[in-house]
This record gives sequence, structure tokens and C-alpha cells, in this order.
Amino acid sequence: MRVVFLERWKKKATMTDSRIQLTEEDITGIKADAIVNAANNSLLGGGGVDGAIHRAAGPGLLAECRGLSGCPTGEARITKGYNLPATWVIHTVGPIWRGGTQGEPELLARCYRSCFSLVQELGLRTIAFPAISTGVYGYPKEEAARIAIKETRRALAENENLASIIFVCFNNDTRLAYKKALAEP
Ligand code: APR
Repeated sequence: MRVVFLERWKKKATMTDSRIQLTEEDITGIKADAIVNAANNSLLGGGGVDGAIHRAAGPGLLAECRGLSGCPTGEARITKGYNLPATWVIHTVGPIWRGGTQGEPELLARCYRSCFSLVQELGLRTIAFPAISTGVYGYPKEEAARIAIKETRRALAENENLASIIFVCFNNDTRLAYKKALAEP
């Protein structure tokens, strides 16, 4: 019985992981239903991937964000993609790393869950994530990747409509961290 269960569990894990892709490029060039922005609470732009997405999307994105009155850490808001190849931008605010004892892991997990609930609500099929909180916010890459993969596997198991999740790594360290997290059960 245990063997059958394990086989079934392994098959399910392989099925979900076949819908996960890793790439090393600029997220602003990705043509997905939605790309995720690692924003700050104001949603009024910044550096890193936030700056890149706003530059590529054009002024319309900031104008729409101005009407959203910010976003608490762990939550997500959706806007149009404007000049981006992606139709939508999902802005989420990750936790600033303060050593791991201030609820950072749960807040980062909530970022992914908040993004996936918007994806489910809108029936989106493809979404691309940057490595949320691992840049300016200092979250250790391997820990952050483990949380990203865990929440993504959960979302893929719950949402058959989800066709592809792309993790867009901006450097080799990040890509290796995701590769390691994907290799773990
Ligand atoms: N495409 C994909 N990934 C990118 C890009 C890009 N164009 N630019 C940066 N990244 C990567 C970084 O290398 C890092 O791995 O995105 C990840 C997240 O880093 P940050 O953008 O610094 O985001 P974060 O750590 O969540 O900090 C958010 O930074 O830019 C400000 O306004 C933002 O205050 C907020 C804070």
C-alpha cells in the first residue's frame, strides 16, 4: 500500500514539476499572462526588478499603481502590463530579511499564495516570478527558492488550469538556488 502511495505521490510531484521552468533572463521580456513584480509597500516603483518593470511598461503602469493606495507585505495587487509583452503585472511585496525570526518565511510564502490566488481568480495560465525579496531585501536565496518551489507545487496541485510557472533568475547564484530547491522532494 505504502509503495503504491509513494508511486502516486512521486507521479504527482513529477506532473507538477513538469510545469515549472527555470530561466536566466530579464523578466520584462517574458511573454506570459502575468509577470510578478517584487515591489515595495508604496507600489510607486523603485530599483531592481521593480525599476526594470516600470521602465519597460511605461508611465501608464505608475499611473495605475498610484490609484491602488499601496500594498501590505505578503499581499499582491494586479495591474495591466502596458508596454510589456505580459498582459498583466502582479505586484507583491516581500519581507525584508531581518535574520529569519520576524515572520519572514511566512510572509514570503504569503506573497506566492497571494499571487496564485489572483492567477486563479482571473483564470491565468502562465506566470513568471522573479526571486522575490532576494535582492535589496536580502532574503537568503536558497531559503527563498525553497519557499517559492513549495508554494508553487501546492498551487500546481490545486489548480489544473495553471499551465506554466517560470522562475526568472537574474544571475547564476539564483538559478543554482532554484535548481537545488527543485531537486529536493
Ligand atoms: N529581471 C528579473 N529579475 C531581476 C531583474 C530583472 N530585470 N532585476 C533584478 N532582478 C532580480 C534580482 O537579481 C533579485 O534576484 O530580482 C530579484 C529581487 O531583487 P529586487 O528587485 O532587489 O527585489 P527585492 O529584494 O524583493 O527588494 C524589493 O527593491 O527595487 C526595490 O522597490 C523595490 O523596495 C523594493 C525592493
